[in-house]
Amino acid sequence: MRYAIVYVSTASKDLEKKEIENILNSSKKWNNENDVTGLLLFSGGNFFQIIEGEKNLILELFQNINSDKRHHNITQIFGKEIHKEAYDGYDSDFVSDEADYDPEKFQHYLNQIKVLDNSTQKAVENILMAFLPI
Ligand SMILES: Cc1cc2nc3c(=O)[nH]c(=O)nc-3n(C[C@H](O)[C@H](O)[C@H](O)COP(=O)(O)O)c2cc1C
Repeated sequence: MRYAIVYVSTASKDLEKKEIENILNSSKKWNNENDVTGLLLFSGGNFFQIIEGEKNLILELFQNINSDKRHHNITQIFGKEIHKEAYDGYDSDFVSDEADYDPEKFQHYLNQIKVLDNSTQKAVENILMAFLPI
């Protein structure tokens, strides 16, 4: 059974840009190697993440992420079983301000959430719109 978790969190105050890039890159690498799909964005001091994959692996990964001291205020938006096969790899991006934000990527972000059912997709899309500096 596949499972998806979506949450938002606040980055630790002293987190440097280099460390954020490190989180994004190492997550992307590990997730791609372990058939975990989704999206990790950093914007305005906050993280937005979708992780989707084999249920036990996702629950274990989220426990790990939850206890990571590099962020706090971890607010889970939902955790759901997913009935579609994962269709794409993992994406991560750094959108610290408008200069870093590429509007052409927005469609790509939306593609990443297509594993979710329609109503969930709509909800995540709304959160995503509010999250990105557009
Ligand atoms: C906001 C945020 C998102 C993260 N997302 C992932 C992720 O998707 N995949 C991953 O392997 N690690 C992610 N990590 C890192 C994990 O918290 C943890 O450091 C990693 O799983 C390695 O754990 P270990 O040192 O116990 O092996 C994330 C960390 C933060 C702060």
